[in-house]
Amino acid sequence: MQLKPESFTIVIFGANGDLAARKLFPALFELARLGHLPAGATLTAIGRAALSHEEFRAVVQEKMRTLSPDSLKDEAVFEEFIHRIFYLSADLDDPDGYHRLKKELERQGTLCDALFYLATPPALAPVIVRNLERAALGGKGSAGGGRRKIIIEKPYGRDLGSARELNAVIGEVFPEDAVFRIDHYLGKETVQNIMVFRFSNGIFEPLWNRSHIANVTITIAEDFGIRGRGALYEESGLLRDIMQNHALQLLAAVAMEPPVDLSADAVRDEKSKVLRSIRLFSPQSAPTSVVLGQYEGYRSEKGVAADSTVETYAAVKFHVDNWRWKGVPFYVRAGKNLAETVTEIVITFNCPPQNFFGEAESCSYTANQVILRIQPEETIAIRFGAKRPGEELVTDPVYMKFDYRTSFATGGLTPYHRLLLDAMAGDQMNFIRQDSVEYSWGIIDSIRSAVEGRDPEPYAAHSKGPDAAEGIYG
Ligand code: BG6
Repeated sequence: MQLKPESFTIVIFGANGDLAARKLFPALFELARLGHLPAGATLTAIGRAALSHEEFRAVVQEKMRTLSPDSLKDEAVFEEFIHRIFYLSADLDDPDGYHRLKKELERQGTLCDALFYLATPPALAPVIVRNLERAALGGKGSAGGGRRKIIIEKPYGRDLGSARELNAVIGEVFPEDAVFRIDHYLGKETVQNIMVFRFSNGIFEPLWNRSHIANVTITIAEDFGIRGRGALYEESGLLRDIMQNHALQLLAAVAMEPPVDLSADAVRDEKSKVLRSIRLFSPQSAPTSVVLGQYEGYRSEKGVAADSTVETYAAVKFHVDNWRWKGVPFYVRAGKNLAETVTEIVITFNCPPQNFFGEAESCSYTANQVILRIQPEETIAIRFGAKRPGEELVTDPVYMKFDYRTSFATGGLTPYHRLLLDAMAGDQMNFIRQDSVEYSWGIIDSIRSAVEGRDPEPYAAHSKGPDAAEGIYG
C-alpha cells in the first residue's frame, strides 16, 4: 500500500537517539536533496526531551554538522529540509503522548498517511504499538488506517518467544502488508545484487548446488569493538546482534531457489524456505559446529560486567537440509575487533576429479571460487587456476574481478535511503517477513541452548578470532 504521494508524514519514535542521528536524518536529508521526498511530506519526531520545534531542529542541525557535514553544504536544501521537521515531546509509555500525536497529524493533514518508524530499544516496540492502537492510530480499520504503516528496527525480539509475542501484538494492530521489519543489510547494493548475479546469468545457476559446490563461507568481520554500546551488547551478544539477522539473511540470499516472480512475497517465500531448512543445533552437534569468542578487553568496556560471558564472535557451521544443499557446509563467522573490516561470501567449487598439475591435495589452492565482496570493496571475483609462467607445469590461483565503482558511473543509494523509499512505496521485498524472523530466532535459540554454560573463547583484539574456530572446518 502506497502513502498518499503528495502529503504524508514519517513519524520517528526515538528521534533523539543514536540511530536517528547517524542513519535516519542523514538518509531523510538525502531523500529530500534528490527530490525523493515530495514537497508535502513532513517528518514528525518524537522524543522524551522537552523541546520546541525550533530547539529540536537546532539539535538535528548540530548532530548533522558533526556526523554528516556534507549535508550542510547545500544550505538552501538543508533549510527547507529542517523546516519540515515537527517535534513532539512524549513519554512513550504514556497514552497521552499518542493522543497529542493524533492531534498533530490532524493538524498536518497526514492522519491517514503516516509511516511510523520505531528507532527505539526493542522492549518498547510492543508498548508503542499498543499505544498507537489505543489512540486509533493503527493500520487497520476504516478510520483511514489502511494507509498507515510501521517500520521496526532490529533486533526484532530477543528470542523466538518474544518475537512471536511482538508479531502477535503487531498483527492485531497492523496488517502484515503494512509491517516493514528492517535489516539494513538488505538495502545494500551488493546484497541486492546477490539475487541478480545468480538469476540473471546463465552460467552460474546450473552449478549452484551440492553437485558442484564444496562449501560456502560467509564472513562479517569488523576491526572495531562495540563502540560504547556496552549495555546493549550485554543484552544481545553477537548471535542476536549480527548472526540472527544480517548473517542469516546473506545465507538465505545465497541458498534460495529462484522465486516464481519478483513480487515481495515470492522472493520472501524462497528465503523463508531456506531458513526453515537449516538444521537446528543440539548439545551433541554444537562442539564441532559452534565456536563463540570474546575479545580481550571487552570486560573493561563501559557498561560491561567484569565477569561477562557475552560473545563478541561466533563461527558456526550450518547445514541447509534440502535437495539443493544437503551435505554442503555453510561456514559463517562474524565478530567484533578482528584484524580487518570485511563482509564477504566465498563459494568454493569442487576440485576436478584428477589434478594433473601438482599434488592431489594442492587442488584446494586453486579450487574455483566465486567471491562476493559486500563491503568495504564492492566487487565480485572469480578464482581459477592458471599455469605459472616457467618450465614447470603447475597452477597458481588467479582472479577475474568486477568492481562496482569502476564499472558503473553512478554510485548507489545508502541502505537507509533505499529502504525508506521502498517502505514509502509499500514494497516489502527487502524487509523481513514474520515467518523468516521466527525461523531465524529458532536457529539462534537452538545455538544458544546447545552451548549453554560454555564460556566464550578469549581472542586478542585485532586478531583473526579464537584459534578454536579453525576446528569447525572440514
Ligand atoms: C548493526 C549491528 O546492525 O550492523 C552492529 O548492530 C554492526 O553491531 C552493524 O556494527 C554493521 O553494519 P554495517 O552496515 O556497518 O556493516
